[in-house]
Amino acid sequence: MKLVQCIRNAATQQTKVCNFEVDSMTNVPKSILSKTKVGLHNLPASPLCILKEKIINWFDKCESGIYRQVSHQSPIVSIKENFDDLLIPKDHISRSASDTYYVNSKHVLRTHTSAHQSSLLASKSAIGYLVTADVYRRDEIDATHYPVFHQMEGIRLFSRNLDDIKVAKVKLEKNIVGNSNINVTETELSGNNMYQSTHSSLEQDLVTIHLKKHLEGLFGHLFQRKDEKPLQMRWIQAYFPFTQPSWELEVEYRGKWLEVCGCGVIQQRILDKSGNSDKIGWAFGLGLERIAMVLFDIPDIRLFWSKDERFVSQFQPNKISKFVPFSKYPACYKDVSFWCDPKFHDNDFFQMVRDVAEDFGAQDLVESVSLIDTFVHPKTLKMSKCFRIQYRSFERTLSNEEVDELHKGIQKMVTNLWNVEIR
Ligand code: PHE
Repeated sequence: MKLVQCIRNAATQQTKVCNFEVDSMTNVPKSILSKTKVGLHNLPASPLCILKEKIINWFDKCESGIYRQVSHQSPIVSIKENFDDLLIPKDHISRSASDTYYVNSKHVLRTHTSAHQSSLLASKSAIGYLVTADVYRRDEIDATHYPVFHQMEGIRLFSRNLDDIKVAKVKLEKNIVGNSNINVTETELSGNNMYQSTHSSLEQDLVTIHLKKHLEGLFGHLFQRKDEKPLQMRWIQAYFPFTQPSWELEVEYRGKWLEVCGCGVIQQRILDKSGNSDKIGWAFGLGLERIAMVLFDIPDIRLFWSKDERFVSQFQPNKISKFVPFSKYPACYKDVSFWCDPKFHDNDFFQMVRDVAEDFGAQDLVESVSLIDTFVHPKTLKMSKCFRIQYRSFERTLSNEEVDELHKGIQKMVTNLWNVEIR
């Protein structure tokens, strides 16, 4: 049996069809396959594309001509690329079928743009990259979670000859340091999050400064409004198997700390394996939706996918503008309760709801799905769960009949899939 997959072609923008064998690991539903063809980050009036361009321009302004732009790559990558090459432990939760879409036992829909690190590094075609792509994770459904989102990843390599890094640092200071009104709090490294022993302290310092100054400058540029008091940022220690040390950067926005990106010094083992043992480098990754929602004031992640003129017509290339909400149509919710199999996973339920809605031609009518009650029978110890599904359209008022029909479809699928009784 074959799974047919359409893939965008970089040069022609056309789709080409590739076949992947289906096996017992396959868990990519139709509703997700249809998303692989869209490429929101390449539509000029999409806030995601506008933000992407801003970020590219920033890096270009800092170091002109250094960062090769990579886009349009197929979302199907091997398990080796998505996990093994990045030193992600075999038992890491991100490998589980409840978190990741498996095309088959050898391929997944990339869960992050880091999946392209090993092949880009091995190609040795540039010393810097900015990769933008759609990424896929099985997840809950609410205003900030969608199973497809977009990431951007940056990589910068330096030859381990210190002059190269020093030159880059001097250029950087000229271009960005002091340009932005920001106030940054540092963090001290501790525990396992230490520098790699193969790197000299001068190498470590220079690479870290280069990385941090680029990111501080970038977010200063994106978030700072004229005449405002200094923008607060803080570095937090983090863990990523592919970088060491690792950090997250947080920015204070409207009184809350917002995590804006993860980053670190690339594990030397990754550089060695890709034929770059004479290099040292940094990498960062950020989620475009999370940042765009804040900068453009977009309250619900589903809106990025909306084709409604009232949304689409609001944005112009190269301009960050605030979204003006249009009137919301009323929501309605319905509950479904059932006895669960011990193997049942909440993410399976969320995915099933999306699939049924897609079959009804109504995927984006599901606004949120939440677990509202778990009950364990005192005698039989059987567990029952109650989920609340909230339905709403951005485009019209839903009729009772259409919601009923969709909800019945969901109940029927619960019985078919898990062979359980609806309570
Ligand atoms: N891939 C990481 C994520 O998806 C982000 C990251 C990229 C972190 C590169 C460090 C370096 O969360």
